[in-house]
Amino acid sequence: MRNKILEGKKGIIFGALDDKSIAWKVAEHAHREGAEFVLTNAPIALRMGSINKLAETTNSKVIPADATSMEDLRGLYKEAMEHLGGKLDFVLHSIGMSVNVRKGKKYYEQNHEWTMKGYDVSSLSFHKTLQVAWELDALNEWGSVLGLSYIAAQRVFHSYNDMADNKAVLESIARSFGYHYGKRKNVRVNTISQSPTQTTAGSGVSGFDGFYRFANDLSPLGNASAEDCANYCVVLFSDYTKKVTMQNLFHDGGFSFMGISEDVMNTYMQGIKNSND
Ligand SMILES: NC(=O)c1ccc[n+]([C@@H]2O[C@H](COP(=O)([O-])OP(=O)(O)OC[C@H]3O[C@@H](n4cnc5c(N)ncnc54)[C@H](O)[C@@H]3O)[C@@H](O)[C@H]2O)c1
Repeated sequence: MRNKILEGKKGIIFGALDDKSIAWKVAEHAHREGAEFVLTNAPIALRMGSINKLAETTNSKVIPADATSMEDLRGLYKEAMEHLGGKLDFVLHSIGMSVNVRKGKKYYEQNHEWTMKGYDVSSLSFHKTLQVAWELDALNEWGSVLGLSYIAAQRVFHSYNDMADNKAVLESIARSFGYHYGKRKNVRVNTISQSPTQTTAGSGVSGFDGFYRFANDLSPLGNASAEDCANYCVVLFSDYTKKVTMQNLFHDGGFSFMGISEDVMNTYMQGIKNSND
């Protein structure tokens, strides 16, 4: 059921690479709920991905921007406001990348130049996005800015690597900027801590299939899909969540509060039995 809860809202959606991307689903759902927006991604990703297809189905413009470049971000916000005919109501930051993860370097043997690159892309770009919006006064009162996180910011997931640190900083930026933007303009800033999701970035993490299945077996509601996440983002962009800010919101089928579940215990005990046979 669609209620057009984003009717009249304008925004920017970062990070739709292909139809598996969480940002792709958010764009589709936001469009159905009546929002107008600009899609953006790094120039290289635009060449590799299929974003133009999404632009057609959602009737939106694509504006390239490297989210680590303040100059690109300024150009993006100015062009987006010109195209949409006014200030913005929502921004989705759905960006993540670790060079160490990509190149198979373990947490304890990082190439720190790569670490800095991943930090810039995955964490600092969130701050840059907010700072450019602030400088240009690009967000309307009661606007909503969202980043996407993962529970490795709080707990250890053995192969999530430097992305765990990047997510911890991302969540901290949401709190700190959330304070300043809330005081200045009643703008909300939050992160959603999403279940493992089968996307290009997700599947790049070593052992992803194990994380995915374990989380699904542990969570009473099972993993949240990209579609589920899109629905949650829509609600957080809407006026129904005006007083939610500076939060890291777990969207994970209950995973974050679980210790052990029957399914996980059965699988574990079966593994022990098999290895003893
Ligand atoms: N997939 C999961 O399991 C999962 C779980 C929790 C959180 N997340 C987070 O969700 C977000 C979206 O990831 P996804 O799973 O949809 O994967 P994805 O690979 O589809 O999206 C990542 C996006 O980041 C973009 N990007 C990379 N460098 C950029 C740059 N310099 N400038 C602009 N954009 C850049 C990529 O082009 C891509 O579109 C990420 O923050 C990710 O960490 C994913």
